[in-house]
Amino acid sequence: MNTVSLRGRDLVSAADLSAGEIGALFARASELKAEYLAERRHASPPLERRTLAMLFQKPSLRTRVTFEAGMTQLGGHAIYLTEGVVLGGRETVGDVARNLERFVDAIMARTGPHEVVLELAARAAIPVINGLTIREHPCQALADLFTLHERFGDLRGLPLAFVGDGNNVYHSLALMGATLAMEVRLAHPAGYGPNERVVARARELADAAGGRLVFADDPREAVDGAAAVYTDAWTSMGQEAEAEERRDAFARYQVNRDLLAVAPEALVMHCLPAHRGEEITSDVMDGPRSIIFEQSENRLHAQKALLVELLAG
Ligand code: CP
Ligand code: NVA
Repeated sequence: MNTVSLRGRDLVSAADLSAGEIGALFARASELKAEYLAERRHASPPLERRTLAMLFQKPSLRTRVTFEAGMTQLGGHAIYLTEGVVLGGRETVGDVARNLERFVDAIMARTGPHEVVLELAARAAIPVINGLTIREHPCQALADLFTLHERFGDLRGLPLAFVGDGNNVYHSLALMGATLAMEVRLAHPAGYGPNERVVARARELADAAGGRLVFADDPREAVDGAAAVYTDAWTSMGQEAEAEERRDAFARYQVNRDLLAVAPEALVMHCLPAHRGEEITSDVMDGPRSIIFEQSENRLHAQKALLVELLAG
């Protein structure tokens, strides 16, 4: 296994991890997954008496349950805090950080603005993990690329096509995929492209690693020859008022049987929650090429690996 230490670090952006660190997390996730699936328990839980505070400004199924169950399985404990309790105007983000660092061992936060997680990380002396902001979703990317690693091994040069919104999920996949020298493609409608600064950073990482970022207007062009086709909601949390105009703008970007005919070997991915009949059809989501629920399961294993690397010892 790669020997790198993430002890005490933050995970705010997918760009915070080097290829060696991602490789070490994949190896740890594989070990933890194998042991957990065989025994439904860990013989020596590595995070006894450790506590994770989880701050949520937005709803969650997967992120909340995988972090909370993950801490329990590792011998520790997680505390679920909603916006009404913290980050809701009772006190500053900095003061929240300066309290929590005295009570718990790490913070996981799902916020609207990315700056809130950045500020938590700057102010708290304990690890801060980004559980989704409007800019990024690094834990999702870690689990997704671990899922592809389980299927394909070395990810260098592997073409991953993202079809839809150039959003938080795309950003983190592009940054981590670039670090791992993948070919990350995006097909998006005009006006729904990614953040230029994130793309510039991903390009730097891709250039350094030997990866590639590719952009297309036509989803068929992006999907042609892809190893996996990924999509996400057309309307992300917080954008509900735009749902109707987004449905029109994205209509051509549905992942369905016709689009997948262009890439007969491609696996199908989605971070969930899915809007069946919008960005993805039910037959594709439930079909034999879908690895969507493996991705979801791997949120548990990949994040347990992350928690162990940040906190154990
Ligand atoms: N994919 C994901 O983060 O799911 P939740 O919003 O349910 O946490
Ligand atoms: N892009 C979606 C991802 C949900 C996990 C959102 O931000 O709502």
